[in-house]
Amino acid sequence: MKLYGLAADPVEVYRTLRERHGPVVPVLLDGDVPAWLVLGYREVCRVAGDARTFARDCRRWNAWDRVPEDWPLMPHVGWTPSVVFAEGAEHRRRSGALGEALDGVRRPEMALACRRIADGLIDGFAADGRADLVDGYARPMSLLAVAWLLGLPEEDVPELAEEADAARNVTGAVDSCKDAHRRMHARMQRLVGERRYRARDDVPSRLLAHPAGLTDEEAALDLLALLVSAHRPTADWIASALRVVLAGGAFAGEPRGDGDALREALWEDTPVQGVIGRWAVHDCVLGDRRIHRGDLLVLGLGAANADPHAQPDGAAPNRAHLSFGHGEHGCPPPAPELAEVVARAAVAALPDRLADVRLAVPAADLEWRPSPWTRGPAALPVEFTPEC
Ligand code: HEM
Repeated sequence: MKLYGLAADPVEVYRTLRERHGPVVPVLLDGDVPAWLVLGYREVCRVAGDARTFARDCRRWNAWDRVPEDWPLMPHVGWTPSVVFAEGAEHRRRSGALGEALDGVRRPEMALACRRIADGLIDGFAADGRADLVDGYARPMSLLAVAWLLGLPEEDVPELAEEADAARNVTGAVDSCKDAHRRMHARMQRLVGERRYRARDDVPSRLLAHPAGLTDEEAALDLLALLVSAHRPTADWIASALRVVLAGGAFAGEPRGDGDALREALWEDTPVQGVIGRWAVHDCVLGDRRIHRGDLLVLGLGAANADPHAQPDGAAPNRAHLSFGHGEHGCPPPAPELAEVVARAAVAALPDRLADVRLAVPAADLEWRPSPWTRGPAALPVEFTPEC
């Protein structure tokens, strides 16, 4: 089964695949590079939760000879000495420091900052009577909130926006993606230098002061990982939650809780559909498949959320969703909580400011960005009474 070229509805494709081939499916990634796609809820939990058998360091891969330099998925497997590819005690050192640096963020202060950001963005289009809530709202909202977390000035954000997207663009040109990574890395190195010189009450300063004793380069790499990991999923979460609310006719009609829309978006249209990945440390069996040492496993988080084992009666889910991953390389606490502060502020501000905001096209015409890896609406055109 070729995973590339998969377009509009990965959720449906994954569901069919799981029904036909079981919870672990051999697939071909771009360029016919082989991998295992893990689709079952139990199997994803096992792979993500058992780091002694399924580890994160991509240098274990047994298919490197099949991977060209300009492979489109290189951003996911290009090893760097960052928290993302670290294992064992080194991962605990780096991830622990990052988690504690994030934990120092005062939630009410962040909620206020996010509301200010949301209001500023709405100010930008309120007089127009129409807007695209993906490019005009969800995406800059997420980026400005992450810039706030990192203590970066707002002037840096437009440049950062282009680079953060280029760096994650798995279908774009690999050279421009590498350049974007290099520029963002240089910006993080500068940020670390600035905070070493003069500490502030922010995430980079707390990371540098942490007893784990990160070097400047380790801190720059982990802040870069934070920026890239946080921005797109948070933007997609906001956009998908807004889609749930707007497509349901709420805001303009019967209101529903923001929390419902946020939760529904995580379960049904989770922003990170597939994670590349984990590499088998030794030969083993997973879901009746024989996995060889060095094989690549892709975590199908969207498919796992839709697995009947996660939702036994097809309605009320009695298990935790896997949208933030699972195990030691999952989204590090308290990042999911902080992402929710951003998403909640974004969803709440809109009807407060634009009471009759509604979709400008039928909900059935809304399209998803074509990607098997991430999920979010391609656009959310809305209209409303212009603010004078
Ligand atoms: C403030 C916002 C966020 C921050 C700061 C953040 C930060 C991070 C970081 C640093 C990692 C790498 C962890 C590691 O490898 O040890 C990560 C991984 C991840 N994050 Fe987040 N994140 C944010 C929002 C989100 C959102 C909104 C989602 C999805 C709904 C998400 C889903 C994930 C997933 C699926 C992984 C990878 C899990 C894996 O490899 O198994 N994150 N995040």
